[in-house]
Amino acid sequence: MTINKKIILKNNPVGVPKETDFEIAESIIPEISENEILTKTIHLSLDPYIRGVITGRHIYSEKVNIGDTIVGRTVGEVITSDHHDYNKGDIVVCSNGWQEYGVTNGEGVRKLDPSSAPLSTALGILGMPGLTAYAGLLVYGEPKENDLIVVSAASGPVGCMVGQIAQIYGAKAVGIAGTNEKCETVINKFGFLDCINYKTENLEQRIKEICPNGIDVYFDNVGGETLNIMTRNLAMYARIVLCGFMTQYNLETPPPGPNLGPIVGSRASIKGVVVYDHYDKQEDFISLATGWLKEGKIKYIEDEVFGLEKAPSHFCKLMRGENHGKTIVTMEQ
Ligand SMILES: NC(=O)c1ccc[n+]([C@@H]2O[C@H](COP(=O)([O-])OP(=O)(O)OC[C@H]3O[C@@H](n4cnc5c(N)ncnc54)[C@H](OP(=O)(O)O)[C@@H]3O)[C@@H](O)[C@H]2O)c1
Repeated sequence: MTINKKIILKNNPVGVPKETDFEIAESIIPEISENEILTKTIHLSLDPYIRGVITGRHIYSEKVNIGDTIVGRTVGEVITSDHHDYNKGDIVVCSNGWQEYGVTNGEGVRKLDPSSAPLSTALGILGMPGLTAYAGLLVYGEPKENDLIVVSAASGPVGCMVGQIAQIYGAKAVGIAGTNEKCETVINKFGFLDCINYKTENLEQRIKEICPNGIDVYFDNVGGETLNIMTRNLAMYARIVLCGFMTQYNLETPPPGPNLGPIVGSRASIKGVVVYDHYDKQEDFISLATGWLKEGKIKYIEDEVFGLEKAPSHFCKLMRGENHGKTIVTMEQ
């Protein structure tokens, strides 16, 4: 009764984690101190972010070192309590990690009503993944009636909630998933309009068929080539919600090319601009900038050649990136 089984980190995983990177260990069930509770884990949540915590790349959690218990959210029953908010027998969401028992001071703990929903949902669709989908879609995706919302990893807790909430808000959901079985679940259980198996189908061709006028919202859970393809198939004024980068978590170094992962951490936004939409501001701009130029507040350089015949080579120079300043051809010296 006094033994607490747990899973600790044995090796720092390289690439996709292996079972041999972990090992079972035992410890004595800890005693509680003042204002603490001891809970016995009922459900343990395994989430992609844990990979980042193990590597030390997760910005909100300290790295799990070799010998440490692996972290994770849990649903547990209060076994003993010295905390005024919790009594023995209460069911709570807490963060015991990968172990049978855990002690907490109540920080980040939430009491559950077992009659309101199955307890495990507090770790999935009604928990952190569900909230991610809800906030990500409604705050950043801004779904509108009849919008086409595409989501990757569509059968997972984040993805399935994105698609279902989209439908509640009058939009249509299209999923992307990695097996036919997942796609069938996405369509038949979660009510998505369609679901593309990106491993066996031509993703770009299928997305063009399903969304002939483009995607209104792309909720990205994977990054990589899927994100790449979606960016080529956006409707006007589409919104991309960057949520997760499953294709990168097991990599030692980020893949080449623009890596949008840090955008999530910094909550930055990415927006498209096309100058032709902004000619109503032209007069104001010219008057302001001309003043700045006169006052010496702005400067410029030009890469100038003389004679029309120089235009092709000068253009090629520009396109090789060898121009230095605004590329200009002046007809006569
Ligand atoms: N930004 C946030 O605050 C936040 C919060 C929670 C979760 N997330 C992110 O949301 C995403 C979904 O989370 P979830 O909990 O709902 O996970 P999940 O969908 O249950 O599992 C991840 C799925 O990613 C897909 N995937 C695509 N490429 C992969 C690859 N190279 N390796 C492994 N899996 C790959 C797989 O589905 P397919 O076979 O269908 O491709 C896999 O089942 C994750 O990226 C997670 O990190 C972000």
